[in-house]
Amino acid sequence: MNISEIRARVEMLVDEATGKTLKETGAIKHIGIDPEKYTVIMIISIAKTGGEEEKNLLRQIARITKVEMGFRGLKVQFEETRKLEGIGSNQKVKFIIIASGKGGVGKSTVACNLAYALVRQNKKVGLIDADVYGSSVPKILEMEHKHPRASADQKILPFRAHGIELVSTEFFAGEGVPVIWRGAMLNSMMNHFFYDVKWSKDLEYMIIDSPPGTGDIMLDLKNLAPTASVLIVTTPHPSASEVATKAGIAFRKLKHEILGVIENMSHYLNPATNEKDFIFGKGGGEKVAETLGVELLAKIPINQPKHHLSLFEPDEETGRIYAELATFVQLKA
Ligand SMILES: Nc1ncnc2c1ncn2[C@@H]1O[C@H](COP(=O)(O)OP(=O)(O)OP(=O)(O)O)[C@@H](O)[C@H]1O
Ligand SMILES: [Mg+2]
Repeated sequence: MNISEIRARVEMLVDEATGKTLKETGAIKHIGIDPEKYTVIMIISIAKTGGEEEKNLLRQIARITKVEMGFRGLKVQFEETRKLEGIGSNQKVKFIIIASGKGGVGKSTVACNLAYALVRQNKKVGLIDADVYGSSVPKILEMEHKHPRASADQKILPFRAHGIELVSTEFFAGEGVPVIWRGAMLNSMMNHFFYDVKWSKDLEYMIIDSPPGTGDIMLDLKNLAPTASVLIVTTPHPSASEVATKAGIAFRKLKHEILGVIENMSHYLNPATNEKDFIFGKGGGEKVAETLGVELLAKIPINQPKHHLSLFEPDEETGRIYAELATFVQLKA
């Protein structure tokens, strides 16, 4: 029994969602045999996963391999073909994940300000607010609660704020929806954001604001945006920097490139003395950068913007820091 024989048999099966044979759709991505367990391993791409079509196919493949060909085991991984059509596989878009491990260190603020600084440098920027637990992007971008609309071809239309194209869990979950329910939606929400949103065709950057923690979201992102690079945000405090380092290591294990570290809430410039007060301690950013072997890209002071709620303009010290960060991202991401 060899691989080409299995292929020849399985290729004749039909993907019911399209009515075409697996040969016609080029569905078989991989076939292997584990000789010890005498098990067939396959990766098959079909139009729609998780439904009756997948179950029926699996049943037919099991009949061929196990009943007719006598293999002891079968493992099939089904992939959805439409994934190849999502924004995640658009080679022209650079994906940048903003991550920290710890909550409340300023991920969302950094994500929005970086997106805004890129827009100010004439880049086409998208922003995915993936924080189902505490979405704050709409507030940072001074948006009211909105209900998403659909395009004629049944895609979700993204919103636009300060020149940034965006979607947020907030618009889908709605205010006051229980957190526990939002958690259950996390995975399908991310899928919608990547496959069902009508993003502009000419987007150059997609910034992803992630929720705190290093859980399932990382695996989802690996799947959805395999080539994303990561910016790690920390505060100067050891408790934040330790968790940020762990998050960095976890992302690296998934083979995401770490672009660098941003130390937020670095210090407070005391207007009375004109000296820096290190309210949250010192050294967190350096520590994370050193341990991960990457650059410390920016130290953002504690302060409030002059013109907006949370966004900074280039006539402010912090606005200039974000502008430099945006320039760096364009060179390195
Ligand atoms: N440099 C700064 N100076 C002053 N306030 C800041 C600074 N950075 C962030 N903040 C404030 O700290 C709070 C937390 O910031 P933000 O929501 O961006 O953090 P986060 O990491 O996204 O949090 P979460 O983990 O809840 O998503 C917000 O109220 C924000 O306005
Ligand atoms: Mg946040």
